Amino acid sequence: MSTTIDSILVEKRTFQPPQQLVDHARVSGMDAYRALCDEADQDPDAFWGRLANENIRWHKPFTKVLNSDNAPFYTWFEDGELNVSENCLDVHLENGNADKTALIFEADDGTVDKVTFRELHARVCRIANGIKSLGYKKGDRAVIYMPMSIEVIATMQACARLGVIHSVVFGGFSFRNLHSRIVDVGASLVITADYQVRGGRKIPLKDPVDQALAEEGGDIVKKVIVYERAGGDVAWTPERDLWLHELEQGQADQCDPVPVEAEHPLFILYTSGSTGKPKGVQHASGGFLLWTKVTTDWVFDAKPDDVFWCTADVGWVTGHSYITYGSMAAGLTQIVFEGVPTYPDAGRFWQMVDRHNVTVFYTAPTAIRSLIKASESDSNVHPKQYDLSSLRILGSVGEPINPEAWVWYYTNVGGERCPVIDTWWQTETGAHIVTPLPGATPLKPGSCTLPLPGINVAVLDEACKEVGAGRGGNLVITRPWPSMIRNVWGDPERFKKTYFPPEMGGAYLSGDNAQIDEDGYCWIMGRTDDVLSVSGHRLGGTEIESALVAHDRIAEAAVVGRPDDTTGEAIVAFIMLKGALPQGDEARDLAKNIRDWITSEVGPIAKPREIRFGNNLPKTRSGKIMRRLLRVIAEGNEVTQDVSTLENPDVLEQFSNAY
Ligand code: PRX
Repeated sequence: MSTTIDSILVEKRTFQPPQQLVDHARVSGMDAYRALCDEADQDPDAFWGRLANENIRWHKPFTKVLNSDNAPFYTWFEDGELNVSENCLDVHLENGNADKTALIFEADDGTVDKVTFRELHARVCRIANGIKSLGYKKGDRAVIYMPMSIEVIATMQACARLGVIHSVVFGGFSFRNLHSRIVDVGASLVITADYQVRGGRKIPLKDPVDQALAEEGGDIVKKVIVYERAGGDVAWTPERDLWLHELEQGQADQCDPVPVEAEHPLFILYTSGSTGKPKGVQHASGGFLLWTKVTTDWVFDAKPDDVFWCTADVGWVTGHSYITYGSMAAGLTQIVFEGVPTYPDAGRFWQMVDRHNVTVFYTAPTAIRSLIKASESDSNVHPKQYDLSSLRILGSVGEPINPEAWVWYYTNVGGERCPVIDTWWQTETGAHIVTPLPGATPLKPGSCTLPLPGINVAVLDEACKEVGAGRGGNLVITRPWPSMIRNVWGDPERFKKTYFPPEMGGAYLSGDNAQIDEDGYCWIMGRTDDVLSVSGHRLGGTEIESALVAHDRIAEAAVVGRPDDTTGEAIVAFIMLKGALPQGDEARDLAKNIRDWITSEVGPIAKPREIRFGNNLPKTRSGKIMRRLLRVIAEGNEVTQDVSTLENPDVLEQFSNAY
């Protein structure tokens, strides 16, 4: 918390928005930004009500904007009714955009498939009719475990059309993770694929589904719909499993959207927290749709002929907000990419921008950092080898973007013409919170700049006092906003405790440590809890530790993050073994075995980069693990601190070898 702004900011220039953008921007210049902020401050209900009327088609108009009676269980537009899928698709058929390309899908092998809004609408209707024919209805839960495809987006939209609540599980998660989410959310339907194809490899998806459903409680799932992506060679349970293409056959191209109350849950998305199992973050239909659509318009300055590419997977919130929903409601033509940025080589992103004339490109700092590295060792994959002149806006999300990466992105990808829009937000916030606006905000590399109009943030100390410019503290959001998390699925107490703890005086606690500088610019310093950010993915330290101690050789484990140039943080696991400490090859074999174990228990992204063995963990006399010391060791440094409070200082020596 004591880091000063000076120490994180190595690039001190301010970058003004290009005049060309300012001239035509939806929010043009800082005066326009301030006018919106003033409108929201003076009468928040009128501001949000105006946006909700202008941006959403309502089946039944709302009469109340915000209801705080049961705070922090806020409700928005509660007596209004709408259908999210209708707002993402049908509206475009009626406003002359039926034949506009909605999605450009590029497969791992480079094959391209396109659908118009009319075609996508028909596809969504057929799938929705199919799901309906199986007996599913509003309020039922469906788990979606699919690769990036037109089909996954159509499936999510089909659920929304019926009021079926979806919970997407990232295809990189293991069957155990899938199982716990299916059980927690009470899913009676699973939608998956035979395989996913990434980086030239076929990775099974249906197999892990079968494994998950064979576990205790898995029998709540009555049907499994399978999209055939790669040959369909999978095990089959005839009374339960059915192919997506067979389900769609003979279904009508029209399916009336089911109007739902604005507060009806649109989806539940699990995310790692500081303690215990992942939390099911519950989002509401009306508020989520509103703020994802409006932020698409403002933050990406959406224009009718834009080609928008958000590189996220729909397994994460970014893909929900800025692929499936907000950006589709905004009517953008979007790229959907199945593969990985480094296949067949690390020029893939730039080649695709060139090929599809992408105008707005939104990715994560970890991808940028890895592509910087790759282009330093192979000039053929450097962005300058490609024609990137179609780009007008660049975005960043998921973790702080270090100023060096910012400037490289701005210079080499954006040709010094495209502002870098560093968007801070979270699964829980549903949509952007603190971010520049491309035609308004002067940029400082490494800062996510200013809160959006209607959003109020502060940095508070533990006693709920504002810390003042340039000092670190808890980043909080002081007023409710429409796309905020509504609940932790099935656990309202946890919702209150985690996000609205009494010591924050009613503000939403983000879990991030931040500073606000003298210009009101926000600098994110990382998490205040043990949540790790690996390649922009949020992983709970305790979640990985629980998986580790379930291994039969492990007595106790502590996981810490070590700063990493490419992935942001790398996982280092300190393991207290049962029995004798292995050495040499034996230790290496055990480390491999533990990594395989974590891959199957949690997923490959949670694999520790380094494993260190000891016959205990460094503990205080009261039995608390000294994580601070573990971080020092993980960073490869000598422990020079006073270790006199340690019960067992001798164990530190054992951790000197990393496997
Ligand atoms: O620590 C912040 C970091 O990612 C966390 C949210 O992760 P998740 O819920 O998985 O959502 C990621 C996509 C929105 C935050 O608590 N984070 C996200 N965006 C930024 C960021 N840190 C710094 N700068 C950002 N732009």
